[in-house]
Amino acid sequence: MTQWTDKERSMVSAIWEKINIDEIGPEVMARVLIVYPWTERYFGTFGDIFTTTAILNNAKVAAHGKVVLKALGKAVTDIDNIRTIYADLSRLHYEELQVDPDNFRLLADCIIIAVACKLRNTLDPQSQATLQKFLYAVVEALNSQYC
Ligand code: HEM
Repeated sequence: MTQWTDKERSMVSAIWEKINIDEIGPEVMARVLIVYPWTERYFGTFGDIFTTTAILNNAKVAAHGKVVLKALGKAVTDIDNIRTIYADLSRLHYEELQVDPDNFRLLADCIIIAVACKLRNTLDPQSQATLQKFLYAVVEALNSQYC
């Protein structure tokens, strides 16, 4: 289990407080689909997401980005139980959605990029490293039910 210092806990909370989910969520989801186009295969119900313009104008992509970021908020407020929090979500992505778990890290990296672009004046290297540690703990938890 990932261990957290008090400083890291407050850093993760401080970053999260500055994030506007309605803005970053859609950006993150669009970035994943544009930079890693094979991820489109999992979102067959989203309609046209076959070009950059279509992705950026797709309301389902935007809405799903918010869903993902909101789900991460749970880990921010219960950072010692990340594995437990995401056990069901891991099972869903494995058994029903059949998402290749390599994609979790790609999405986490897109979150880091989107947050760094938005908070570039305040995100010092230590905060960035802590955000990365936090997101990779989530990635590890989402991997946990894959066998
Ligand atoms: C659905 C979270 C990564 C594909 C969901 C849902 C959540 C979620 C909360 C909704 C579950 C429900 O309705 O019960 C996350 C988190 C991720 C992550 C926190 C990583 C940080 C990914 C990745 C992919 C993916 C990398 C594929 C490339 C999907 C799909 C759905 C879904 C296809 C169903 C969408 C729909 O039909 O509405 N995810 N997810 N997820 N996720 Fe993920």
